[in-house]
Amino acid sequence: MKSLLSLENVDAFYGAAHILHGMTLHVNEGESVALIGRNGVGKTTVVNTILGLAAMRAGTIRIGGEVIAKPRTYMAAQRGVAVVPQGRCIIENLTVEENLILGAAVGRKGPWNVPEIYKLFPILQERAHTPGTALSGGQQQMLAVGRALMANPSLILLDEPTEGLAPVIVDQLGVIFNKVAAQGTALLLIEQNMTLVTRVAKRYIAMAKGAAVAEGIVDDESLEELHKHVMV
Ligand SMILES: Nc1ncnc2c1ncn2[C@@H]1O[C@H](COP(=O)(O)OP(=O)(O)O)[C@@H](O)[C@H]1O
Ligand SMILES: [Mg+2]
Repeated sequence: MKSLLSLENVDAFYGAAHILHGMTLHVNEGESVALIGRNGVGKTTVVNTILGLAAMRAGTIRIGGEVIAKPRTYMAAQRGVAVVPQGRCIIENLTVEENLILGAAVGRKGPWNVPEIYKLFPILQERAHTPGTALSGGQQQMLAVGRALMANPSLILLDEPTEGLAPVIVDQLGVIFNKVAAQGTALLLIEQNMTLVTRVAKRYIAMAKGAAVAEGIVDDESLEELHKHVMV
């Protein structure tokens, strides 16, 4: 199995604030993995460290097996790891279509292009020339996923993609994530909705206090075990 992303014993900081304490995580080709844990344990900081937005001071990050000694924001996408950031980050003043096209800026070849994204999310085609920020929350999330796919990634990091969305939209996104996974793209799903985790992920990693503290297989019996890692 080809390794797409690995963190080994990573320590990361925001200024003097020490957030990740020996964080370890592996995602292989074609896997769907959930990263779970209570608010504030450092899940987003894992993403930020990969992007160079939090400072790595110890440990090793590899993307596609290559050691990334000094992560920079563009490096992950160039190497096939696209991010759907927490809060979506749809660019204001750009239309839906322009937001999508931005996702292709890394210039990786692959199956995804604007027409294919519109097949996956017909609503985005209907709203192609609307400002991206004028969409509903659920539609903005679809746009963020479409923009990530435009980079033709081998792995997508999804940071709380269903936060604040209605259950019916969460279900729709779950179906989409499974379609994307079935087409061969690996997923790292950061999520608070454990029902969605059981629908999408095959494996989970649980974090507490900036480190991985448990991992296991996700199946129909996992719900109770998963909830233990996110209860307040
Ligand atoms: N820019 C920042 N500067 C300092 N501390 C931060 C910053 N962003 C997040 N933190 C702190 O880092 C910790 C982990 O945050 P985060 O990675 O966002 O957690 P999660 O995504 O698991 O909810 C929290 O205690 C949070 O307050
Ligand atoms: Mg977060």
